Amino acid sequence: MAAQLIKGTEVSKAIREELKQEVQHIKEKYGVTPGLVTILVGEDPASQSYVRAKQKAAHDLGFYSVQDDRPADISEDELLKLIDQYNKDPKIDGILVQLPLPKHINETKVLYAIDPSKDVDAFHPFNVGKLMIGEPDFLPCTPAGIQELLVRSGVETSGAEVVVVGRSNIVGKPIAVMLMQKGPGANATVTVCHTRTRDVTFHTKRADILIVAAGVTEYVKGDWIKPGAVVIDVGVNEVGRTADGKRILKGDVAFDEAKEVASMITPVPGGVGPMTITMLMKNTVRACKIHHNIKE
Ligand SMILES: NC(=O)c1ccc[n+]([C@@H]2O[C@H](COP(=O)([O-])OP(=O)(O)OC[C@H]3O[C@@H](n4cnc5c(N)ncnc54)[C@H](OP(=O)(O)O)[C@@H]3O)[C@@H](O)[C@H]2O)c1
Repeated sequence: MAAQLIKGTEVSKAIREELKQEVQHIKEKYGVTPGLVTILVGEDPASQSYVRAKQKAAHDLGFYSVQDDRPADISEDELLKLIDQYNKDPKIDGILVQLPLPKHINETKVLYAIDPSKDVDAFHPFNVGKLMIGEPDFLPCTPAGIQELLVRSGVETSGAEVVVVGRSNIVGKPIAVMLMQKGPGANATVTVCHTRTRDVTFHTKRADILIVAAGVTEYVKGDWIKPGAVVIDVGVNEVGRTADGKRILKGDVAFDEAKEVASMITPVPGGVGPMTITMLMKNTVRACKIHHNIKE
């Protein structure tokens, strides 16, 4: 029997509707508007399209939003000064620097310069540390999207065997940490696999929830999956273009095989992808509430 699809597009739409109402409410009751700046250095087309999508989402939700484009030859010092300016700007609650940055700029230095209370990507070590001890102000966006998909699809994580394939700082490590925490939507027993794992399939085959973020097209096959497992495919791999130039995307899981074995599965596209920007918006609303001491 084919697995039930976990439709990120629909879940994302529902969360954005909730956020829109929350923004309206805090505007009316407290007279404050969440503010987001997206800083884009250079003219990489993929980065431009990601930033456009973030700006559109912010605009649709009624945020105060600023798109700050800078030339590719901006110096590291100038960029750091710009971040400092937004750190001090009371209208701005969230600062997003679109990655990757040009090679002459030290990415780590730039991300560490963002005020942690405005770090809506949750990449600053202060926020990474708070996540680790289970007291996060902000959750990193893609892992937060995965957790929302699990919770809103009614997947029981407590006591579940979760296997994560991939240990990157933006997906694999944080989702593993989040799902092992004590609390709702977590309490799982987590195993993390990577390129030095001796037998990846040994682990994937015993997962109740399998999360794949390896960046390898259709890496996980149907017979690596335990019958009835929930499969979250984070991978976004471009495998070609349509005649009219649209990207053809595949995940890290061989979807056609996997859907015959799993009980639930995220499609690519339309699964985890749409959740990431929505979680960025959620973090910006949260930052605004923190900055204005709004407790509700
Ligand atoms: N939907 C979204 O919003 C979203 C967001 C972020 C990323 N993504 C996608 O998710 C995928 C992963 O992204 P990422 O940034 O986490 O990638 P990454 O930084 O390249 O990390 C990939 C991880 O997978 C592991 N890995 C690679 N090949 C493997 C193999 N054959 N067996 C076991 N482990 C393997 C690597 O292990 P080592 O550490 O040993 O090298 C590494 O830890 C990509 O397709 C990316 O485009 C999607």
